Amino acid sequence: MQQADGFSLDSLLSADAVARRETHLDRGGAGSETLISIDVGQPDPASMPMDDLIVATERVLSTDRTALLYGSREGYAPLREIVAQKARRLESLEVDPGQINITNGSSQAIAMTAQALLDRGDWILMDEASWGVRVFKGFGASVFPVRWDDGGPIIADVEAGISAAENDGKPIKMFYTIPNFQNPLGITASVERRTAVLDLAVRHGFVILEDDAYVELRFEGSHLPSYYELDESRSRVVRAGTFSKIFGAGIRLGWTMASGELLSALMNYKLDGGASPFSSRILAEYMRGHMFDHIDDLIAVYRNKRDVMVQGLQKGLGSDATWSQPEGGFFIWLELPEGAIADEVRVSCGKRGVAVWSGAQFRWDGHDDRHVRLSYSFATPKEIEEGVAILCEEIRNLAT
Ligand SMILES: Cc1ncc(COP(=O)(O)O)c(C=O)c1O
Repeated sequence: MQQADGFSLDSLLSADAVARRETHLDRGGAGSETLISIDVGQPDPASMPMDDLIVATERVLSTDRTALLYGSREGYAPLREIVAQKARRLESLEVDPGQINITNGSSQAIAMTAQALLDRGDWILMDEASWGVRVFKGFGASVFPVRWDDGGPIIADVEAGISAAENDGKPIKMFYTIPNFQNPLGITASVERRTAVLDLAVRHGFVILEDDAYVELRFEGSHLPSYYELDESRSRVVRAGTFSKIFGAGIRLGWTMASGELLSALMNYKLDGGASPFSSRILAEYMRGHMFDHIDDLIAVYRNKRDVMVQGLQKGLGSDATWSQPEGGFFIWLELPEGAIADEVRVSCGKRGVAVWSGAQFRWDGHDDRHVRLSYSFATPKEIEEGVAILCEEIRNLAT
């Protein structure tokens, strides 16, 4: 757009910036009128350990002046050790802290991987509906969406994507996937599917970018091995993780697990003077004494909220609609009854102060009338009950 003084940014913007401008990442939600948010994947505010955090912050500020210096590219060593310790305890997975790098949220980890691997127009595979749409639109990737059933990614779709890319003369570069409590689908990929996907990655030479933002928050069932663990060569998987969901998103800290050449390629994009050395020290100070108890507390909080949401849907919609039954994480993917259009549901709920997101937001092609993503992470149990009752009423009105 040209300004009054004749200046126009259009011809100066990079192709990447234009692509980002063309994506409508933040549509949805009910804006300032919202009273009840069952849309966003924000962590539960009531669970944030404010008092202990004040103690941790005081300790850092009174003992460690390096907190306010630039940090290393790899991140604060004790925090890397804490991530390794967490993997050992919760997953029985041994990871050398040298393979762990602290990032500015897992968003940075994912963006760094995209930067390191993708040229515009390169093919990637992505879960059919995905939080990652917002990231990859910006990188100008060509995306082949892989449908999921209850077992995870459908292998025939992975194979079809590989063939489509090969026919286009540009083989698949990576599969970006969210294996646990998928956002937005709320489903977990089985070990068999993970193994089959990894097998295809080995045979066809692509990288798996495993976004495991919710792995720690499993309410029931047993932990499944990650792609990172299954890949014994440790050469073709980048695993991204985050403290946003097990501590608080405002701390803006996450990590990658990667090794060898892949790790070196990623690190060339870590140009920020180290993920906040200050936050890293406070987080490490807190997590050292509290991490596992805090995660246990969060599991109880989110399990209860999941149950409240499921009971509300059961009560309000019964067998007239279907929804995923997440064993962890934050999200439920609701398939609407015939006649109810997702965006109309979003708008009519918004008018009554309840924010939900329509499924289109998570689709690569931006189309999905049939689904709504619900989140039970942020609202209180009482709000969830009220919000879901209103949602079900609106769905019923629109479906008839
Ligand atoms: C699947 C998934 N990956 C990554 C992120 C980004 O998390 P972070 O706060 O670590 O950047 C989110 C946030 O909602 C998410 O749901």
